[in-house]
Amino acid sequence: MTQEELFKKLIAHSKEYGFVFQSSEIYDGLSAVYDYGQLGVELKNNIKKYWWDSMVKLHQNIVGIDTAIFMHPKIWEASGHIGAFNDPLIDNKDSKKRYRADVLIEDWLQKQDDKIDKEVAKAKKRFGESFDKEQFLATNGRVADIRTKRETMNEAMVTSLNDGDLEALRQVIIDCEIACPISGTRNWTEVRQFNLMFETKIGSVADEANTIYLRPETAQGIFVNFLNVQKTGRMKLPFGIAQIGKAFRNEIVARQFIFRMREFEQMEMQFFVRPGEEMIWWNKWKNIRMSWHRALNFGDDQYRFHDHEKLAHYANAAADVEFNFPFGFKEVEGIHSRTDFDLSSHQKFSGKKLQYFDPETNESYVPYVVETSVGVDRMVLQVLSASYKEEKLESGESRTVLRIPAAIAPVKVAVFPLVKKDGLPELARSIIDEIKFDYAVQYDEKDSIGKRYRRQDAIGTPLCITVDHQRAEDGTVTIRHRDTMTQERVAIVDIKRIVEGEVSMRNLLDKIEL
Ligand code: GAP
Repeated sequence: MTQEELFKKLIAHSKEYGFVFQSSEIYDGLSAVYDYGQLGVELKNNIKKYWWDSMVKLHQNIVGIDTAIFMHPKIWEASGHIGAFNDPLIDNKDSKKRYRADVLIEDWLQKQDDKIDKEVAKAKKRFGESFDKEQFLATNGRVADIRTKRETMNEAMVTSLNDGDLEALRQVIIDCEIACPISGTRNWTEVRQFNLMFETKIGSVADEANTIYLRPETAQGIFVNFLNVQKTGRMKLPFGIAQIGKAFRNEIVARQFIFRMREFEQMEMQFFVRPGEEMIWWNKWKNIRMSWHRALNFGDDQYRFHDHEKLAHYANAAADVEFNFPFGFKEVEGIHSRTDFDLSSHQKFSGKKLQYFDPETNESYVPYVVETSVGVDRMVLQVLSASYKEEKLESGESRTVLRIPAAIAPVKVAVFPLVKKDGLPELARSIIDEIKFDYAVQYDEKDSIGKRYRRQDAIGTPLCITVDHQRAEDGTVTIRHRDTMTQERVAIVDIKRIVEGEVSMRNLLDKIEL
């Protein structure tokens, strides 16, 4: 199965089992907007809990808040979003399709990397054991040409983006001979800047003064509450403020399912530090966040850092955590050293001091900020794409299973009576009544036990309990484990302890290297 086929299957599976639906589907959908179904919302809530607990429970110097989506419009002037939160767009005159200029070039760069990888694979086959990759890359003429052009074009893109030189950016598209994927022509318009914020009106009088924006990031709610939290929480530097909430961007290149949405959710933490100490903390948070991702056990090689060459207007260092999605390595999280840009700017625009009095140095100053920002929806996609497996079993049958880490699985335990009589349904329900306060549980009495196992495998339930006639004799039931498909006979009195041992959030949190 190719990665493309896998991705298509994953999207179909997500819908079939109630994880993700297209928004407004009965009206033919709304592009790049999605709804979470009955299992999707459980998975999403568990991911949010994993993040929240890792921040505010594991760190006594991090607290959480929940700020409003609507904010004073001046905030977006101060943050730079009104002036600089733009995408460079280009239209193909024949297909009338609009693209992000930098995305067209990045796709072209990726194609060059793929070409180099193919050449390496071919040579490796030809030379066998004696193949030396470094020597091949340094000496093969064809590969050298591809690499040189790739580097030149990458540099030209980065420079034109940094300088805001839209003509130079267009020239890169021309020089790379990029054609429109729809029309196949290179008939391009000029590149123009397009602001990503959604506008709306507040109040009853529809004039300019009442224009407000749907927040494009949750971070600004944290910045403008910095002193409120610091003072009321008696926080001492270094300390962090965490928030989970919706953000909105009018994305033009909306594709790849829930990877790039117009309404999405972020989990952001701003960590306030002494000026000059930001690089130490930036490196520390890079490691902690990578460890948080890797604790999910999808394989360390499925993640990598990507250090930014083009920095956002507020940053002096930035790196992405990238995950290997079915469509390649892409960003799931940004870790940014945002300097004192935001607090200083809000200080200037609001006229209110946003400074911290440091009792150790007896000085007042504007703290520096290290931010970690991860998308909830991209985490859902990460978990679904890493967990989805089609497996051939020893019996010759096959199964589709979501190997979701047990602590974040939407349903933790399914309980089945072997048959619908002899008091077994009542006994199954009494087990549910014992554990339902702590765990999401499903009851199922329809079809054979084998079919019931398959249904639970398909939604990622880690444990299935079957109540059979032996229960009456010796007070035992069977527990079947999703990943190994092994079954064990256990005493009913031990169920709670066994379930806790397998699905507890602590299992995940314990693995994070702080
Ligand atoms: N406050 C910093 C900030 O917003 P960002 O890199 O633009 O930084 C952070 O966004 C994270 O938010 C990304 O790594 C991604 O996971 C998520 N995100 C951004 N835009 C998104 C979109 N259109 N759809 C889904 N998730 C998105």
